Amino acid sequence: MAEIAFDAGTRSWLIRTAATGYALRLTEDDAPSHVYWGPALTPDQLADVLPRTKERWDAFNDPNEGLDELAADGGTRYWTPALQLRFADGTRALEWRYLDHDIDDGMLRVRFRDRHYPLRITLGYRVPAGTDVIERWTELTHDGPDGPIEVIRADSATWVVPVRPDYRISHVTGRWAAESQLLREPVPHGETTFGSRRGITGHHANPWVMLDDGEATERHGEVYSAALAWSGSWRITTTRSSTGRLTVTGGFGQDGVVPRLNPGDTLTTPVFAGLYTDGGFGAASRAWHAYALRHVLPHPDELRPVLYNSWEATGFDVTEAGQRELAKKAAALGVELFVMDDGWFGARDGDHAGLGDWHVNRDKFPGGLEPLVGEVHGLGMKFGLWVEPEMVNPDSELYRAHPDWVLHYPQRTRSELRRQLVLNFARPDVAGWAFDSLDALVGEYGIDFLKWDMNRPFSEAGWPDDGDQDRLWVEHTRAVYGIMDRLRAAHPGLRIEACSGGGGRIDFGVMARTDQVWTSDNTDSLDRLVIQHGYGQVYPARAMSAWVTDDPNFVTHRSTPLRFRFHVAMAGVLGIGGDIVEWPEEDLAYAREQIALYKEIRPVVQHGRLHRLLPPDTDGVSALQYVAADGERAVVFVFRQAAHFHTHERPVRLDGLAPSARYRDDDTGQVWHGAALLAHGLFPGLPDGDFASVVIRLTKL
Ligand code: DGJ
Repeated sequence: MAEIAFDAGTRSWLIRTAATGYALRLTEDDAPSHVYWGPALTPDQLADVLPRTKERWDAFNDPNEGLDELAADGGTRYWTPALQLRFADGTRALEWRYLDHDIDDGMLRVRFRDRHYPLRITLGYRVPAGTDVIERWTELTHDGPDGPIEVIRADSATWVVPVRPDYRISHVTGRWAAESQLLREPVPHGETTFGSRRGITGHHANPWVMLDDGEATERHGEVYSAALAWSGSWRITTTRSSTGRLTVTGGFGQDGVVPRLNPGDTLTTPVFAGLYTDGGFGAASRAWHAYALRHVLPHPDELRPVLYNSWEATGFDVTEAGQRELAKKAAALGVELFVMDDGWFGARDGDHAGLGDWHVNRDKFPGGLEPLVGEVHGLGMKFGLWVEPEMVNPDSELYRAHPDWVLHYPQRTRSELRRQLVLNFARPDVAGWAFDSLDALVGEYGIDFLKWDMNRPFSEAGWPDDGDQDRLWVEHTRAVYGIMDRLRAAHPGLRIEACSGGGGRIDFGVMARTDQVWTSDNTDSLDRLVIQHGYGQVYPARAMSAWVTDDPNFVTHRSTPLRFRFHVAMAGVLGIGGDIVEWPEEDLAYAREQIALYKEIRPVVQHGRLHRLLPPDTDGVSALQYVAADGERAVVFVFRQAAHFHTHERPVRLDGLAPSARYRDDDTGQVWHGAALLAHGLFPGLPDGDFASVVIRLTKL
């Protein structure tokens, strides 16, 4: 349990996590101010660090600049505002007054009010047991009778990074079918904003950043990171000043979207969690993975099953006979969860119609879904179903009945993307309809798994009947969470996969109510190595869906060997997404063997610690290693993306093993000293050529 202590003399709080420390204080004028973040310090040691607000040395800067605990707009504060409000009379500046605090069960809440206006502000901190992660959030309460307060920006937290000679940022960028492209680049001076204005987390950026002084490596160095648990629009801003100060402020929302806080309302932001580690990027990732496994994912102890998904095999051409045939083949391979993707409902013969009509298409399934579900269950597999609850095709019964249910402005085009519009889940009647439709489906057919898709961003996000239409940006996402939570509560056996045209909705907010995420619509194993590398910087293999699909690849048209495709997918939650009815017997036999191998190694992959030995851009060869939580087993994946003329195989240095122990290669029986594997490495014995791969299993003796 974290220790949190208040020192009344200095009016400061010290939070001690498993191995790190964090401190804040009240300034002389009652504003919350940052003190310290880094290696653990005792209260005595912290006394040496405690700053006092500096003398004002010129007329152009705030003496406390860059140190605000939640940088508020107002007074002489000119830093990037994390909290920007407009009171009913038009006043914008906030003046903090400290009220009180409480410390309870690893949680600290520090309460303030505005000096004049009816606003209470709570800064929340929580350290999940056994981690170095500090969860932070903000609560705003309008506690007066006057008119609404406009919320221009309400970040969850501002993280102040200690002054270093230089700064580098790690983050991911990308787009559809090319998500999670890792970048490490210098932090520009001034303000740099990462975010999404799409109403979803997005493919183009993901709500986390890592900061270091430019010297950290995979295995060494101090890394400060922060991740936002939110699946709607978001922004994270780094601010670097000429004084050397760097802050990271982040939360939900986007510029120009200004919801209101009405009398009596409380707005609670999502969590923006921070983590300090001194073991390089590898240790930072492992700490985030451990946090996700213990404190975010709803069923952390489960092993995710091997799934089959029909999308790439059938597209919209779904038939009962076709699905049954796929299911039989899948079961024979050792698949444990059979998922029927898009095309089973309404008039869904293509992407032009049917979304919103969540009843079984009787032309395709004359007897309803029962016969197929029965067959799948009879084959010993769980049954999963694709849905896209937030969407409607204009060509649907739902839209014809309720054209006002979509996001729209009366005088603006209703822009279609993929021929669909977004339902306004901020409306309780629409969210209620969605819950009822899904609840009925799951209950009626005994559905074990939903793949919850979301295939377009918001546009013309209006709500004409509502006086505060901007609130829909937050409330839509909250409604999605609410429906998932209610479904889980009503159907405890139900598991959910989050998907948004591939990896458009991957974040700790959605992971808290789903069991896995669809990483990307790009299943090309070469591209996947890069995507999985970016994904795994923060998110765990335990939630990373990865399918083996047909050759050549559906999206990229590249050909790669089946072995390579399997090995890449086995580094996450293995699935099969190809047209297995067409696979030759030889490929099916190989698939059976690899699925059996995966089942054997998956406790290590899904619950172990990830060590990235060589990133996917390393001279044609990349390597990953998972080490079981108890250290007894390790699995090493080595991939040669491209064979270069005249390069001889090099040893791959392992990580995370005990130097004094010996390890047996489970396939060859060869025994190695841990110290030699760590210091010198292992010759992987890759087959010749491009797209070569090997999986090595080591057992500690
Ligand atoms: C996008 C998803 O990412 C795909 O896997 C598939 O489910 C399609 N939608 C179906 O429309």
